[in-house]
Amino acid sequence: MQQPSPSLSRPGPSRRFSVAPMMDWSDRHYRYFARLISQHALLYTEMVTTGAVLHGDRARFLGYSPEEQPLALQLGGSNAQELAQCARLAEDAGYAEVNLNVGCPSDRVQNNLIGACLMGHPQLVADAVKAIRDACSIPVTVKHRIGINGRDSYEQLVDFVGQVHEAGCDTFIVHARIAILEGLSPKENRDIPPLRYEVVHQLKADFPQMEIILNGGLTDLDVMQEHLHGLDGVMVGREAYHNPYLLAEVDQRFYADEAPVRSRIEVLEALRPYIAAHLAQGGIMHHVTRHILGLFQGLPGARHFRRQLSTEIHRTDQPLALYDQLVTQMAERTQPQDCPL
Ligand SMILES: Cc1cc2nc3c(=O)[nH]c(=O)nc-3n(C[C@H](O)[C@H](O)[C@H](O)COP(=O)(O)O)c2cc1C
Repeated sequence: MQQPSPSLSRPGPSRRFSVAPMMDWSDRHYRYFARLISQHALLYTEMVTTGAVLHGDRARFLGYSPEEQPLALQLGGSNAQELAQCARLAEDAGYAEVNLNVGCPSDRVQNNLIGACLMGHPQLVADAVKAIRDACSIPVTVKHRIGINGRDSYEQLVDFVGQVHEAGCDTFIVHARIAILEGLSPKENRDIPPLRYEVVHQLKADFPQMEIILNGGLTDLDVMQEHLHGLDGVMVGREAYHNPYLLAEVDQRFYADEAPVRSRIEVLEALRPYIAAHLAQGGIMHHVTRHILGLFQGLPGARHFRRQLSTEIHRTDQPLALYDQLVTQMAERTQPQDCPL
């Protein structure tokens, strides 16, 4: 078992293991589901722009279920005053952390000076961090890349992190590849630039007082625990979405919590009242269950589960009955193999 890292004694939530912000994926329904599997993983919202928070449907953009905590709000923006206003609203809404997105490479956000392009403007990010710090008392963190094309040397990374740290940010979540701002789609930018974990380890070695969280391409819990020998935490995106039961071992491995782990079937049973409440409010079951398709990944019946919830669900007017039937079927198919750990 790992020794607790210094990050455990820092104020705010523990970031030893977190689930990444993912637009359209890490919405409140996914987060509620993920929380049924791990009690401790820190969860991040999808990115919400300052414009959406300040001028849009605030309940929609900031709303969450209390069960999702510990929960961090990720903001997209670069106007210090607007970010400060949003951070205050985030604190009032009970979020455990405000995170600033300096990693997203999409053209759409670049035009608004949001995301990875901000790595070319360290002073702007520093001003934003200072304004957020002054506006609220919850921690502010920054999620960024190791560089962007044209600004990808280690010295430039250190300059960015140094300026932002000076402004009051102690925690950096580093996606360990550069972003290429022209010519690659956001999806390609998550796969094509090579992963360089050694750069992130170097950053921690050079700035041991900072909390440095590693992100990018992590799929194996053993490998993640190895990274914790140098780093303060890991953040997992796609694997936690496509293979959510990965989260079942997180509490024991990363938080030394020996509490019993829910089996997959128990997760489905625990999710049922949430789905029923969602339906009772006029919601659509698929909006919840689209996030759980990978729950049985690698087990007998995984395809059946996925197919029922992605196809059959649209053909029935009794979605909850289909869900109940499916839970019974999956219990029969998987019970002998479905031992939690
Ligand atoms: C569908 C999708 C949406 C994403 N949306 C965001 C986002 O809103 N904000 C952000 O900082 N990163 C976003 N990312 C990037 C992830 O947070 C993460 O940095 C990236 O996927 C690398 O981690 P992974 O290899 O563990 O998936 C998104 C990734 C995916 C797959």
